[in-house]
Amino acid sequence: MVTVVTHPLVQHKLSVMRDVRTGVKEFRELASEVSLLLAYEAMRDLEVTQEELTTPITTAEFPMLSGKKLALVAILRAGLIMTDSIVQLVPAAKVGHIGLYRDPQTLEPVAYYNKLPTDIAERRVFLTDPMLATGGSASAAIASLKEAGATTIKLMCILAAPEGVAVIERDHPDVEIVVAALDSHLNDHGYIVPGLGDAGDRIYGTK
Ligand code: PRP
Ligand code: URA
Repeated sequence: MVTVVTHPLVQHKLSVMRDVRTGVKEFRELASEVSLLLAYEAMRDLEVTQEELTTPITTAEFPMLSGKKLALVAILRAGLIMTDSIVQLVPAAKVGHIGLYRDPQTLEPVAYYNKLPTDIAERRVFLTDPMLATGGSASAAIASLKEAGATTIKLMCILAAPEGVAVIERDHPDVEIVVAALDSHLNDHGYIVPGLGDAGDRIYGTK
């Protein structure tokens, strides 16, 4: 299942990110802001239970987060900016990292790092990567999360291509995808069209 967050604030910020004139500083700030807004939507179904609390006025029952604890997992390197901002909303979440890069020739993901919370099997996992293009990186990351025991996983991306969504739906039909926009297609180099370019390069100024 794919949820596209159509809120005007998200859409406006994403449009500025797409603009080729947007520089590193503003791109980073916008990526962080969009990530927070995506997390607000992705975490809409977190469990709450009523707990008794005393306000300065009276004692009553109020909703408090309950259920599985959370883990945020970034696909390096571009996913880092998303977990770094989302952890502000859920400071008790544990954070994992999966290092993958896409081979520019084959477009296949190459794994180089994996460090996950040891109790990932007991946690609800939010996997972050700004770009879902061929879907190879996200599919491989989800497979390694499942291998480590994770059973409840949501994938959060800023932009997705239909090709990537189809791969996740084929390989991991249990994983819900939350995105700010679903673009038209991939070009011959595996870039999302119209897209925003290379997310990692635009976040870190490496191009
Ligand atoms: C980008 C992006 C995703 C991947 C998406 O990473 O951040 O991880 O490409 O492409 P896919 O869906 O076709 O696998 P990249 O390989 O450029 O690495 P980087 O984040 O280190 O720059
Ligand atoms: N990775 C990116 O950073 N951008 C794309 O358009 C595709 C893959």
